[in-house]
Amino acid sequence: MSEGKSPRHAAEQESADVSEAEIAVHWPEEDYVLPAGQFIAQAYLTNPGVFERFSLDRFPECFKEFADLLDWYKYWETTVDTSAPPFWRWFVGGRINACHNCVDRHLAAYRNKTAIHFVPEPEHEAVHHLTYQELFVRVNELAALLREFCDLKAGDRVTLHMPMVAELPITMLACARIGVIHSQVFSGFSGTACAERIADSESRLLITMDAYHRSGELLDHKEKADIAVAEAASAGQQVEKVLIWQRYPGKYSSAARLVKGRDVILNDVLAGFRGRRVEPEPMPAEAPLFLMYTSGTTGRPKGCQHSTGGYLSYVAWTSKYIQDIHPEDVYWCMADIGWITGHSYIVYGPLALAASSVVYEGVPTWPDAGRPWRIAESLGVNIFHTSPTAIRALRRNGPDEPAKYNYHFKHMTTVGEPIEPEVWKWYHREVGKGEAVIVDTWWQTENGGFLCSTLPGIHPMKPGSTGPGIPGIHPVIFDEEGKEIPAGSGKAGNICIRNPWPGIFQTVWKDPDRYVRQYYARYCKNPDSKDWRDWPYMAGDGAMQAADGYFRILGRIDDVINVSGHRLGTKEIESAALLVSEVAEAAVVPVADEVKGKVPDLYVSLKPGLLPSTKIANKVSAAVVSQIGAIARPHRVVIVPDMPKTRSGKIMRRVLAAISNRQEPGDVSTLANPEVVERIRALAT
Ligand code: WT7
Repeated sequence: MSEGKSPRHAAEQESADVSEAEIAVHWPEEDYVLPAGQFIAQAYLTNPGVFERFSLDRFPECFKEFADLLDWYKYWETTVDTSAPPFWRWFVGGRINACHNCVDRHLAAYRNKTAIHFVPEPEHEAVHHLTYQELFVRVNELAALLREFCDLKAGDRVTLHMPMVAELPITMLACARIGVIHSQVFSGFSGTACAERIADSESRLLITMDAYHRSGELLDHKEKADIAVAEAASAGQQVEKVLIWQRYPGKYSSAARLVKGRDVILNDVLAGFRGRRVEPEPMPAEAPLFLMYTSGTTGRPKGCQHSTGGYLSYVAWTSKYIQDIHPEDVYWCMADIGWITGHSYIVYGPLALAASSVVYEGVPTWPDAGRPWRIAESLGVNIFHTSPTAIRALRRNGPDEPAKYNYHFKHMTTVGEPIEPEVWKWYHREVGKGEAVIVDTWWQTENGGFLCSTLPGIHPMKPGSTGPGIPGIHPVIFDEEGKEIPAGSGKAGNICIRNPWPGIFQTVWKDPDRYVRQYYARYCKNPDSKDWRDWPYMAGDGAMQAADGYFRILGRIDDVINVSGHRLGTKEIESAALLVSEVAEAAVVPVADEVKGKVPDLYVSLKPGLLPSTKIANKVSAAVVSQIGAIARPHRVVIVPDMPKTRSGKIMRRVLAAISNRQEPGDVSTLANPEVVERIRALAT
């Protein structure tokens, strides 16, 4: 990181992510690209004065504007209670229901409007256009079932392990209607990963689907539920019922048998609830709406607990002003609802605005890289939202496809990882046809919604950079000593947010200490302080700020690898590898990948006396897939005679990362076993 090297980065040479930061810092500054006049002419936000309205001295009252996008049963009294930092309580005293705000309140004006366009992966299957009226009916019937058949009440947790189908938002909204806290686990995660989340959230109920389509295959999904329930039980959590949606109602598409007394075909039982209505439960604004598990520095995923009033107001405001969703727009976010992006920007944000939101079941490149553009053309999609990984894949597999289809985006989003300027330019020129404005939105599972972005109708865009903090968000970069690194200094540091905001998560489920330690302790100068100004939020990303105030995000400073925009904890992968009895030590490093951004290379050493074999390598790979899911499948498993180690016995991941990325490992003379480096290089290249 040459001149941009901060002391921590120098000291932290053992972290593999330093090399990631170095790559990014060497990107040259790009020229501005201006938003099209046609976009600006219709944009909600065009007056830069908005930043005045949300200046730090207007905190926290400025956020009233967020809350006022919603219907309240009882209006709140306190904008934010900051008396017990860093536990913030937004819109205290208010009563609200998220489902009412996303469904019921739209019926008067939009009953017959499409709420969800469900697009099955098989192209011959008809698209289902679910209207707000239908959504209302289905959510009510399911809410009645959850309450009466499953005996659920407000505050209970339910784990969902569902694919990208319309039934997923229906299930989430039915939970929200009765105040039940949902915890949706990404469908690509394994039964074991699901079990861990069931146990941590203490869910008595699992809701899943028998099967779904992915890359041309109808995948058996219910089989994962059996593993999840068995493993949750051994972790001490009994699942009483498994509710199973059928991908094709009336037909069971899984080879896994139904367990008597436990497994229930959901669409069959629902027939008994036809016509039922359930009044939405007026929940306290601070009642948790959902849990979303994410990877951290330890092996155990953290359940990020999001509130009802603060979260919903935050995603509604940002959907309106950053996504610029107007009632007449057709909006498609191609993320998976199993991640926070899908929760905030497929389900809660767009539906709070009565938008039409597309839910696509499959992979973007199935059956070919023209698929997204055919979907956009046929549905009239004009706002599009995806990740650099998807953009890279579409660019590689079909660089000229967008031009063949007659669709027009006014607005596009990129989120989840840094985007290379070349990829950005293809997105702008080919996918956006030079007409669409692009927002590169930076945020995290913990944050509820966007933190940094350009304002689409106000700011020029800069490829490869996100923007400044959005209105109401005041980012700052600190060096290792807690000194502010000024904009334009060319130096990188840790990006933090000075102030709380309504979308920030409330705590780590059942682990408030971890919440304080991981996000707030680092730059808190006085742990006894009751002043929110003393409690900046630390995101865990390295970043630098250009003179114009735009931030460039350089990547994680912790032990997290960002694969296709999804966070994987290196510790999680390493612990999975260590379950294989032959393995003595394991170390994961990120390898640059043309499409996925980063992929994990897994180095393992074996117990004494064992010889390396493909069989062991395959076993290690299988263990990772079964513990976490295919998304974490190692790019390679390299069996090494020994790990490169410091004299204190710490594995030098930096050296392994250099080998994997075909770079020079730098000075290895201080290692306890420098001779092993060349042997590893010979094995790994
Ligand atoms: C991490 C958060 C937020 C939804 C998707 C990921 C990286 C996120 C950007 C961006 C560069 C980005 C950061 C962050 N990240 N957006 N626009 N540019 N990096 O949510 O799984 O919680 O991951 O993704 O490293 O910390 P997540």
